[in-house]
Formats: sequence, C-alpha cells, structure tokens
Amino acid sequence: MKTQITDMFGIEHPIIQGGMHFVGFAELAAAVSNAGALGIITGLTQRTPEDLAKEIRRCRDMTDKPFGVNLTFLPVMKAPDYPGYIKAIIDGGIKVVETAGNNPQKWLPALHEAGIKVIHKCTSVRHSLKAEAIGCDAVSVDGFECGGHPGEDDIPNFILLPRAADELKIPFVASGGMADGRSLVAALALGAQGMNMGTRFIATKEAPVHDNVKQAIVAASELDTRLVMRPLRNTERVLRNAATDRLLEKERELGANLKFEDIIEQVAGVYPKIMLEGAMDAGVWSCGMVAGLVHDIPSCKELVDRIMVEAEGLIRQRLAGFVAG
Ligand SMILES: Cc1cc2nc3c(=O)[nH]c(=O)nc-3n(C[C@H](O)[C@H](O)[C@H](O)COP(=O)(O)O)c2cc1C
Repeated sequence: MKTQITDMFGIEHPIIQGGMHFVGFAELAAAVSNAGALGIITGLTQRTPEDLAKEIRRCRDMTDKPFGVNLTFLPVMKAPDYPGYIKAIIDGGIKVVETAGNNPQKWLPALHEAGIKVIHKCTSVRHSLKAEAIGCDAVSVDGFECGGHPGEDDIPNFILLPRAADELKIPFVASGGMADGRSLVAALALGAQGMNMGTRFIATKEAPVHDNVKQAIVAASELDTRLVMRPLRNTERVLRNAATDRLLEKERELGANLKFEDIIEQVAGVYPKIMLEGAMDAGVWSCGMVAGLVHDIPSCKELVDRIMVEAEGLIRQRLAGFVAG
C-alpha cells in the first residue's frame, strides 16, 4: 500500500510502532521494520546517549530496513541529556524521529539538517497545527483511547482524526486504539495516511518484555484501563492492577492536594520491574483500550501481513461492494 507516509519514511506498509518505554528495544524495532512497517527505538529507555548509539547499532545488525527513534520531551526539572541523544541519533544515521511531549522546535534544525524526518505525537488539533507551523514533517494524532498520555481534552479518534484532516496540510497517522485491518481502513477513511500502534505491538513474539505483560494484554478487555494522574494534569491511561487501585485511592483521598510525591511509589522507576521482570503489580504501566481487541501473540510479520491482507480485502470487497453498480 502506498501513502504519503510510506513515501516519506521509505516503508512498505503505512504502519508505525510508537515509542514505548522499556518495550521499544532494538529487537522489537528491527522485527517491525523487517515486517515492512516502521519500528521505533525508545530513546530515553537507554540511560545515556552512548547506550542509545549502541542500541541503534544493535538494531542495524538486525535489519537493513529503515527504523526510527522516539525522543520524549518530559516535563521534568532535570532534563535528560537531549543534545547527546540528538547527536547519537544523527551520528547513528537515523532518518526518522518520533518526538512526543513538549514542543520539539528547538531540535528541528539539527534534525532536518541531517536529513531526518520528524513526526510529532499530538493529542489535539491545536498541537498538531503547532507542530505543522514549526516545521514538523508529519503528525501522529493520538486519540483519547490511546495507551500512555492522552492529554486532557478527551477527544476520541472518531472526532479527532477528521478534525485533524480538516485542518492539517502535512500528513498524519492515526494513533490510539489501532489493532487490525479494520483500524487501518477506518484511519485512512477518516483522513490519515497510516496508523501508529503501541499496545498491539507489545503482544508480539519479538517484543522483548516478560510474557506476563503480553498475557495481561491478551486477558484484558476494553473495560480494563484507567486514567491516572488526572489531578496533576499529566493523565496516563494504564492497565488496571493493584498499583492502579492504590494510586486512584490516593487521588480520591487527597483530591486537589495531590502531589507527585504522594504517588511516586506507584509510578517512578517501575517499568523495568514490570516489563523485564514481569512483576505485574509493581506499579502502573501504560496500556490502551485496544487491549480489548488483542487476543493473540503473533510475530510482528504475522501481525503486519494479517493487517494488510485484511485492510486490502476490506477496501476491495466490503467497501467496493457497497458502491458497486
Ligand atoms: C507501555 C507503553 C509505553 C509507552 N511509552 C511511550 C514513550 O516513552 N514515549 C511516547 O512518546 N509514547 C509512549 N507510549 C505511547 C505509544 O507510543 C502510542 O502512542 C500509544 O500506545 C498508542 O495507543 P495504543 O496503545 O492504543 O496503540 C507508550 C505506550 C505504551 C503502551
């Protein structure tokens, strides 16, 4: 399938694997890229720019297809060494960067100078327009359904995507709630040039996370996520577990007085314990409502092939059938 996104990123299928903390290692990014989609290494999961440079080399050993790096600009006091990470990305010959979080404007000249395309993740039309205005090449429009940080507007993709299509000139992909060929066809119908998936790609053979995480996603329904940290205006959609319940209890107890320190135990440094050790109640972890559509653990290639066969079948048969004659 050819879209502006496949052309821009030099990939076969208009599918992107979004950056995911302690999931987006070289193994997953390479497997997704080898399947003809765009794999993405999560920059900040690597503790230093040197570690990221090594991870990029490791990925390059596993695939000769294009892959990208996610750089998340966090609202924290002590910023990570962003100039160092940017240098590792440029020196590593990366051609696609997925940015997320705060405005990436400061970093665009260096990235563009190196011939890198930047796709910025946005949860609203106004942020998408801002991304376009500062010179981002594409946007990943992340609806309220998404795993991770859906922002504070709560607009689901059935509204957000056509609104983005009405306003944006640069291409965008649909993100949040995407799982299969139906998602891709719907995303294209609503104006996107492809789709981005997070949660669905965790439940794959190659995702280098503990099997407990994959099984938790398969077992979950669309009713099993919760929004946490809303009082801090740092809303995150996570899978419901014992830590989520404890955190939400704290939020109820403290109301408007809630501070980050009150919930630090449930959120800080928990990803390695969950993703690598499979300690499922060690803290809260991002997961999308789309878990309700995830029923198996295929290889990335099986997943991507299946999506493309289903999408093309839907377009050629089901949809064409409605207008035939
Ligand atoms: C476990 C997990 C970790 C994530 N970590 C990040 C991250 O570090 N940076 C980022 O930009 N997005 C992150 N995301 C968001 C994804 O890149 C993607 O936008 C989101 O998962 C899309 O929604 P979906 O899960 O419904 O497919 C994460 C998502 C999950 C599920």
